Amino acid sequence: MSDISRRGYLKALTAGAGLAAAAATGCSGPEKPKEQVAAIPAPQPPPDHERRIQWWREAKFGMFIHWGLYSQLGRQEWVMSLEDIPVQEYEKLAKTFKPKPEPARAWAKLAKQAGMKYMVMTTKHHEGFCNFDSKLTDYCATKQGPGRDLVKEYVEAARAEGLRVGFYYSLMDWHHPDGMKAKDDPEARRRFVDYIHGQIRELLTNYGKIDILWYDVAVPLDAAGWESEKMNQMVLQLQPDIIVNNRNWLPGDFSTPEQNIQATKGDWESCMTLNDSWGYTAADGNWKTPSRVVRNLVQCCQDGGNYLLNIGPMPDGSIPEPSVKILTAVGKWLQKNSEAIHGTQKSRVNFSNVAGFTRKGNTLYSHVYFWPGNKVTIGGIQTPPKSAKMLATGKEVKFTHSGTQLTFTDLPAKAPDDPVTVIVAEFDAEPVQRSLAVRVVDIINEIERRHPPAPPA
Ligand code: GLC
Repeated sequence: MSDISRRGYLKALTAGAGLAAAAATGCSGPEKPKEQVAAIPAPQPPPDHERRIQWWREAKFGMFIHWGLYSQLGRQEWVMSLEDIPVQEYEKLAKTFKPKPEPARAWAKLAKQAGMKYMVMTTKHHEGFCNFDSKLTDYCATKQGPGRDLVKEYVEAARAEGLRVGFYYSLMDWHHPDGMKAKDDPEARRRFVDYIHGQIRELLTNYGKIDILWYDVAVPLDAAGWESEKMNQMVLQLQPDIIVNNRNWLPGDFSTPEQNIQATKGDWESCMTLNDSWGYTAADGNWKTPSRVVRNLVQCCQDGGNYLLNIGPMPDGSIPEPSVKILTAVGKWLQKNSEAIHGTQKSRVNFSNVAGFTRKGNTLYSHVYFWPGNKVTIGGIQTPPKSAKMLATGKEVKFTHSGTQLTFTDLPAKAPDDPVTVIVAEFDAEPVQRSLAVRVVDIINEIERRHPPAPPA
């Protein structure tokens, strides 16, 4: 490649990196004309957002629980729809659903042990079966196989462990006779929307203080059809401290990237499965390793978001053994490293070949997941830290800072912690890293300085 074409290539790469970085942070590209910007009002969270969301921003890590009639079939929570099971046949599962006593106690214990600070349980999934006691339908836990209120048990279990309580509630409903007709039939819509609003009212009235309402799949209506504004107003009136997500077509208090970690503007929470399924799926053995889970959690924190990680209990409510093992290992790591996760803020140091980063004020936590040996080097760091130590042991770490290169030195040859070792460094001000794109421009300039283009012939 000639110098000239290499420059063109690097410049194109830089432009691409800039765009990718802009997309990842949710920043727009070239500035839009003023009047266009003014015409599109930025979506606003519900009132009093800053106060209500505070605890959640610090919590960082939560447990998602997908549990319902589908758990008995063991082929994911979409089984009714994907296998075209007629309603009358599927309904039989309501009679055979016989969970053991208080399975939620073990979920909450595991969540706490794993370092999670909140839980979100499916109160009703798309199948339409209510794990709670509803006056608006007989298709609910108290009047069917379980013969008791599974949501009540869950709420009590979460509170007993000091965890915040979240309700997942699917707006889409394959069981309600109007659920799919509501789009084209105004009377069906009226009945169905009254049912949905009524159930949300029940959920937020009968169980004391609820911390999160997690809507899902707002099909087949739009925001006007669901009366989503009114829905959120009712929710906040019943639970003035609650936060709601963005899945009823309104922005809500936080957005919900699914199965990926994608920072967006505002508050966000990445929800993810532990294998490839939300609902219990006997044959799905594609489990994430504890290392993967910790790295995902670090990435969410680094980019300013939360991580909501799912378990899919078995029909009796037991947690599949692999989930217990993975979350126990994650919890063991978090016991020593909680300081580097809980209460952390978005980090402007975020590029490395061996580590991820989190931050609290002027303190930078380098989460080294590929231990390089006696030295760990991070490029692009503008100022030297004041001090550094190992988080797990408090042992001092030596370092050098040369140009923009920060190197932690005299480290043990083998990683002291598993799966990730955290080095804490104190700075005088918020540590920043010059972005990769900017550094590529520096490289291009350096190449041009050393090899000036030949003058035109
Ligand atoms: C999707 C799926 C649903 C799952 C949810 C979790 O919307 O339809 O089954 O509960 O994601 O985010």
